[in-house]
Amino acid sequence: MSVQSESTVTYTLQGSVGVAEISNPPVNAINRAVRSGLSAALDRAVSDPGAKALLIVSAGRVFMAGADITEFGGAAGGPTLQELEAALEAAPLPVVAAIQGMALGGGLELAMSCHYRIASPDAKLGLPEITLGLIPGAGGTQRLPRLIGAGHALDMMLSGAPISAAQGAERGLIDEVAAGDLREAAMVFCRRLVMEGQGPRPTRDLTVREALSDAVAAEALAKHARTIKGLTAPSLVVDAIKAASLPFDQGMRVEAKLADHSLELRESHALRHLFFAERLAGKTPGTSGDALAPIRTAAVIGAGTMGGGIAQAFADAGLSVILVDSEDAALKRGIETIRSNYAASVKRGRIDQPTADQRLGRITPSTNLADAGTADVVIEAVFEDMDIKKRVLRVLDALVPPERLIASNTSTLSVTELARATAHPRRFAGLHFFSPAHIMKLLEIVRGEDTAPQTLGVALQVSRVLKKIAVVANDGFGFIGNRMMLDGYFREAEQLMLEGASPGEVDSALERFGFAMGPQRVSDLGGTDVGTKARAQLYKRENRPDPYFVIADELTRLGRLGQKSGSGFYRYASGGRDALPDSDVSALIEQLAAQRGIVRRSIPEDEIVERCVLSLILMGARVLEEGIASRASDVDVVWTSGYGFPRHLGGPLFHADTLGLGSVAQRIRVYHSRYGHYWRPASLIDQLAAEGSGFVQWDQSRRRET
Ligand code: COA
Repeated sequence: MSVQSESTVTYTLQGSVGVAEISNPPVNAINRAVRSGLSAALDRAVSDPGAKALLIVSAGRVFMAGADITEFGGAAGGPTLQELEAALEAAPLPVVAAIQGMALGGGLELAMSCHYRIASPDAKLGLPEITLGLIPGAGGTQRLPRLIGAGHALDMMLSGAPISAAQGAERGLIDEVAAGDLREAAMVFCRRLVMEGQGPRPTRDLTVREALSDAVAAEALAKHARTIKGLTAPSLVVDAIKAASLPFDQGMRVEAKLADHSLELRESHALRHLFFAERLAGKTPGTSGDALAPIRTAAVIGAGTMGGGIAQAFADAGLSVILVDSEDAALKRGIETIRSNYAASVKRGRIDQPTADQRLGRITPSTNLADAGTADVVIEAVFEDMDIKKRVLRVLDALVPPERLIASNTSTLSVTELARATAHPRRFAGLHFFSPAHIMKLLEIVRGEDTAPQTLGVALQVSRVLKKIAVVANDGFGFIGNRMMLDGYFREAEQLMLEGASPGEVDSALERFGFAMGPQRVSDLGGTDVGTKARAQLYKRENRPDPYFVIADELTRLGRLGQKSGSGFYRYASGGRDALPDSDVSALIEQLAAQRGIVRRSIPEDEIVERCVLSLILMGARVLEEGIASRASDVDVVWTSGYGFPRHLGGPLFHADTLGLGSVAQRIRVYHSRYGHYWRPASLIDQLAAEGSGFVQWDQSRRRET
């Protein structure tokens, strides 16, 4: 046993029960030390004449978060998880797992190879491998169907979402939900087994009650169609669960083959990339490591769509929030919207009425700005206008103690300029929430030139409190996301329409590529006028012309504001959401193209996708060159969590690596020679292509340097 595994897993005899305790902070991921340590603890229990049962417990808040993802695909060493599980299952004495917090992935698989499972009431049990593009590969596809039936097992593996201890007990995954302290209850459970002479109960000896039928599989795949779109792993899961009806060892061989295959899939590399990218994004060099005071209260200024959504996000996270608006009518409207959002959640069964009431009760409306002065953090979300925001910020700056965070929710304005309107620019940052703010996961935190490390630390703390995925951007035109959208993706989509593609052709091509929604449908949903206004603000900041969004701006001018007005890039049957093609829009686009001397042609789907995606990659490289984003992985996080870029492709820059930067650079040159200006090659891409490198490697080498 290595020194590390000795300290990672300890063995003690407590009465007649051998106790193996795993301690591998922060989440007890199962790595070599855990596997070796547990294997040694099992050997000791088996050879210990005093041990009549073995109890496996773990330290910390999470029982086990799964196999150590950083070991995937490499030479891990020590016993494999499958070997360890086989040894636990074959043990001559009963083996019991005591689960607190979460048993996920390999953690649940290991627990299922134990003979009995006891869990605390708040425990969650799940196989989230699908979210990493993988299938459970340590017996999960064989043991779970034996314990809870093939249908339930498939549902859990396709959703990736955990079930509660109570559900686990109901379905036969958990033997007992502990009433009081888990450790004590587990010891009582073990002693009872010993007293009653209950021996080992290997899961492998059970049979699957009903083999997985094609009909049940098809139904489950359809149920999860939205979240598994574009993934290969779901069909591998189905094959593996079908194999659970074979003799156990045969089924395990099928699982091993399918799991190995899933590890090789590009999509699983992409999803693992995003798993770590999302966690890394919240750790930014230059943030202060000083102990931060807890955030208990927030004030949100402005009760419009964004302000109301932000207030709701805080209330959902359990914080008290003061929602301030100088206009009583606006405040009432804001509160009404929040109330109806909660009512809709209750109706859909997402939360119950008491929870909704409790959350709404956390929001205190006020028309008095001075009430914001007591809050731990203050977020200004008034109308997106430089002068109005500056006015409000100056007042807030005088009211709020200077060590507290004041943030502006803005998607277009210079954070540095807003900050400098106050006397304390160092405590100021931008927070770009995405609409609806209580639902969207992404939060772009904008560091102005004066933002202090401590301030950034608090802003990141806000994102953690709200359970959002935070990315830090430096202050520049459109920050990361909107810059890439406006100078890249959406701009190119407009060009394609002027050159001959219909809105429907552009949208369908990009939706088939994997975007949740094509750009024109997005514009119609958000309101073409909203886009027009935002661009006007942004281009004012840069003092440069915007000759690109001629179609969208013309639609705004004509009052075709999207879904809300019944027509935009598409038309909508009254009250409907189906985007229907509109010959008036075709005529308008033809006219705008003719005015610009553009000869229209039919544009193949490949070209639509290539130009839109390459323009995103190019602008992604540009925001890195300009220091707006500090990591390529941050760019990927912004686009996958805020703009609907397909997750299974890992984000625009991970996708660029997949395409190969040599060919990316070459295709950019082709379009540069055809269209000039915006297609100017990025030296970062050229340099990485020349080195035979990629964005992932570029990030890694920069991390090594810091
Ligand atoms: N392997 C390796 N590292 C893991 C891990 C795993 N299975 N699960 C979590 N970690 C790491 C995270 O990368 C993070 O590391 P960092 O602090 O260096 O950034 C740390 O553990 C804490 O995780 P985090 O996600 O930030 O904590 P949380 O409390 O928000 O969430 C979990 C905890 C367990 C819900 C979450 O980490 C999770 O979903 N893990 C993956 C579960 C999974 O997919 N398992 C299947 C693999 S078989």
